[in-house]
Amino acid sequence: MQIRRLTGTIGAEILDADLGRDDDAAAIRAAFVTHSVVVIRDQRLTPEDHLAFARRFGPINVNRFFAAHPEHREIALVLKEPDQTGAIGEEWHTDHAYDSAPAMGSILHAIETPPYGGDTVFASMGAAYEGLSERFRAMIAGLSAWHSSRHVFGDTQKDTDSVRSGRVGNAAAATQDSLHPVVIRHPLSGRKGLFVNPQFTTRIDGLLPLESESVLGALYRHCQKPEFQCRVSWRAGDVTLWDNRATWHKAINDYQGHRRLMHRVTVEGVPLTAA
Ligand code: SIN
Repeated sequence: MQIRRLTGTIGAEILDADLGRDDDAAAIRAAFVTHSVVVIRDQRLTPEDHLAFARRFGPINVNRFFAAHPEHREIALVLKEPDQTGAIGEEWHTDHAYDSAPAMGSILHAIETPPYGGDTVFASMGAAYEGLSERFRAMIAGLSAWHSSRHVFGDTQKDTDSVRSGRVGNAAAATQDSLHPVVIRHPLSGRKGLFVNPQFTTRIDGLLPLESESVLGALYRHCQKPEFQCRVSWRAGDVTLWDNRATWHKAINDYQGHRRLMHRVTVEGVPLTAA
């Protein structure tokens, strides 16, 4: 098995892995903690293999809102058909940030890829935090922010392409609101990192709306620096796992008229603690 870095900041690519082997799985787990995003090439897993690999990381968290695999409700479908315009996950986000114990991470398996495009971009929240000035870091220390599923998956979204097409649903279950520290200590690596994101974070607790928008806006612009990012170009059969407590991600919707099907399994996390 070979592991090579994708960038100087985030991400590693793994070749020749056998996900059923204990030593390969242990090395992948170590790479996950170090690099936050791990792209494992050329796998072509069965749903059972995918679930067994995910269970090596922890219990599975069943997504409430995405359409599920017809035989395995633990596998969420991330699908875009040729006649659909909106892609799931187009906005920068962190999966399940609205839960009181946000998911540890997700494991996405490419089943069918478009002839071009359809990449996923990731950003390191540890590198973004370290790239802030000391003064700004002192200013945000001790703050907490609210995260919600309501405005993303609730009733107000019923006219979006993904809801109309049945790829996303169950609006009545969008009732989660959680408060998390803005700067967390990563539960595995101990590294400090930002835990706010443009899709699910609604406001910083205790600030006026204008103050909250200004601080979040400044953080979001900062976090989008290309220096904090890596980009995964998929081939069918690839498997990428990412650490939700250390990254943002965004699906690039640049393959109109083509099909893209991914299977996603999400692993349970823990409540987050302030750095
Ligand atoms: C997601 O946001 O989980 C999906 C990302 C992708 O489809 O690239």
